[in-house]
Amino acid sequence: MAKRNFPLSEVYTLLEPGPVVLLTTIRGDKPDVMTMSWLTMMEFTPPQIGCVISNRNYSFKALQETGECVINIPTAELAQAVVGCGNTSGRHIDKFSRFGLTPEAGKRVRAPLIKECFASLECQVVNTDLVAAYCFFVLEVCKAWRDAKLKNEPTLHHRGWGTFVLDGETITLPSKML
Ligand SMILES: Cc1cc2nc3c(=O)[nH]c(=O)nc-3n(C[C@H](O)[C@H](O)[C@H](O)COP(=O)(O)O)c2cc1C
Repeated sequence: MAKRNFPLSEVYTLLEPGPVVLLTTIRGDKPDVMTMSWLTMMEFTPPQIGCVISNRNYSFKALQETGECVINIPTAELAQAVVGCGNTSGRHIDKFSRFGLTPEAGKRVRAPLIKECFASLECQVVNTDLVAAYCFFVLEVCKAWRDAKLKNEPTLHHRGWGTFVLDGETITLPSKML
């Protein structure tokens, strides 16, 4: 491998952490949806997820005030809406109507599920120790939904600046990790 210097500002594009998701919140009666790719699993049961949500985003305020959100996982078919929700702010527009997304009531949190996504995870904020320094929230999934018919639909994985990789071939090896 002939490796050369690589810009630090692009390191994250080598370490894409998981599918791009749509994070929904509700502040008062105003729901919002934000595109997010900086997230990581932290625990199996109850499932815990760490994520970075910039304090410049409208979603940051909603999450801080309500302590609740939903992580919705889109298939690649929703790519246009995913990018749209990442390029606009709920401060100015209603992204559900702008990008053709349908809010649905969940069971455990007030933030809406997105009907068009194949999975939705209702979450509560369980730790904010790193919010002030890193905008890093720890979420716990309290209720999970998934469309069982969609097993291998490609999801989107962010490589930076509008570039996405779609899930490809699945292989199975004798790994001891769940
Ligand atoms: C592919 C993609 C991934 C993104 N990932 C994140 C992320 O992990 N954290 C974050 O704070 N913003 C992320 N953004 C930017 C937010 O989605 C964007 O700032 C959005 O306008 C915030 O919306 P809001 O103001 O309605 O909350 C991402 C945008 C795109 C297009």
